[in-house]
Amino acid sequence: MNYDAVTDLALSRGFYFPSCEIYADAQAGFWEYGPLGVALKNRYIELWRRELVRRDGMLEIDGSQIMSKSVFMASGHLNSFNDPIVRCSKCSSVYRADRLVGEAINAMVPERIADEELDALILKHGIRCPKCKGELSKVSRFNMMFRVSIGADGSEAYLRPETCQSIFVDFARLFKIMRCKLPIAIAQVGKSFRNEIAPRQSLIRLREFYQAEIEVFCNPRRLDDIDKFDEVKDVMLRIQDSDGIHEVKASEAVSKGIIPNRLIAYYLSLLNEFYSKTGIDMSRARFRRLADDEKAFYATVAYDFEVETSVGWLELVACNYRSDHDLKGHMQASKENMEVMDIDDSDGSSGKVLPHVFELSMGIERSLYCILEHSLYDDRENDRLVLRLKPYLAPIQVGVLPIVKKDGMDVKAKEIFNMLKKDIDAFYDDSGSIGRRYRRLDEIGTPYAITVDRQTLVDGTVTVRERDTMEQIRVRIDDLREELMARLRLPS
Ligand code: ATP
Ligand code: GLY
Repeated sequence: MNYDAVTDLALSRGFYFPSCEIYADAQAGFWEYGPLGVALKNRYIELWRRELVRRDGMLEIDGSQIMSKSVFMASGHLNSFNDPIVRCSKCSSVYRADRLVGEAINAMVPERIADEELDALILKHGIRCPKCKGELSKVSRFNMMFRVSIGADGSEAYLRPETCQSIFVDFARLFKIMRCKLPIAIAQVGKSFRNEIAPRQSLIRLREFYQAEIEVFCNPRRLDDIDKFDEVKDVMLRIQDSDGIHEVKASEAVSKGIIPNRLIAYYLSLLNEFYSKTGIDMSRARFRRLADDEKAFYATVAYDFEVETSVGWLELVACNYRSDHDLKGHMQASKENMEVMDIDDSDGSSGKVLPHVFELSMGIERSLYCILEHSLYDDRENDRLVLRLKPYLAPIQVGVLPIVKKDGMDVKAKEIFNMLKKDIDAFYDDSGSIGRRYRRLDEIGTPYAITVDRQTLVDGTVTVRERDTMEQIRVRIDDLREELMARLRLPS
């Protein structure tokens, strides 16, 4: 299905909706999760924890959203986390210069293009304000961090534009107290804030959004020395680089030099396995290796995990080799030693190493959007819209419905609902025809509907209806809880 259908569903069923929407001064780029959205997000994060954090033995932290100015001076964000902008001299509209030029000349403009080159393109193609045709200013830079002032004296601080800076700042303490050895991954889920110039398309470009980030600290001389690589050597990856598309096993990607080392291949494979379990159609996903002029200022090698949707290819995860950019910056600025002991030489002797970092920086909202778009089907034959979410991601897992609201069927159905609700996200519904109740559940992705009918009162069985096939089986009430728990369990 397409963007409009997903947005209609999100708004009408409360997956998500605009923030402060009752006020005229509501700002673009801020959206809220309603009850179904929160449940979907929580389940998605639980899957991420299972498939990445626990699987790999990562550490997870939860850092502050506001961080001091020194952090972003050392990380380079104060100087370099900026977008090129142009302003219309007539109507004062502001545009992101690279996007405006890209759209005007219908070509990809690299993210790190120089301002002078953008000025030259604007001049060459006679690009003017799309709203009023006014003349555009010269390109200038706009820092995307939100500045905040702390306390009565108004000390300068910033809302973090990426969650991972707390991981870098905390690294020395965590490595010591958790008795770590390289390589070690540290993960975090939390909010990031970016003053985007043109937020748009609901969850796709926000000013406040969740990231789930993983920072892998490693010894740069031992990037192929990863024992656990064997676990993923056969994972099939689709990688796009300047030579085209490669569909290869992880081991082949390394041996053919498509991926530079086993450490990067291992983590891209874990990510690939994680997304295969989300319901995203992996035949419409790829890792795209970024060219030098597309990479973030801190990255030396970068792959974007991208998914095709009705609004084009979306970047869901930035996979960046950040080298020692962050730890070195924080070590120099704070004077805190970030070096750790590790095998330093080919002879196996130990020495001090300043770890390098490879990261998987995931946007949660864009991931949820893709899951919704790839799962939503218009089942015309059966006159229903059906959200084919994986059962373990469904916000409401089971609907409990008396076939009619009389003769004790509603009482029995409520009893069953009360029995299930502590372990399973269940929903009791007795209003409207049974067909309409099934359709309401199908549309929000509920994988199972339990129906209490006359036979229930006679033999203590109910029907369990499966959302996608609409098939029904009879199950004894006594076995129902176990039967449902087994069906809803995460895959091994
Ligand atoms: P884009 O090029 O789309 O602006 P980016 O390259 O700036 O994204 P990163 O800085 O690499 O994004 O951030 C890592 C991830 O965080 C992205 O892959 C994306 O999923 C998510 N993300 C970044 N910016 C936004 C945003 N404004 N709204 C929603 N998600 C975002
Ligand atoms: N941590 C990488 C990013 O947010 O861009």
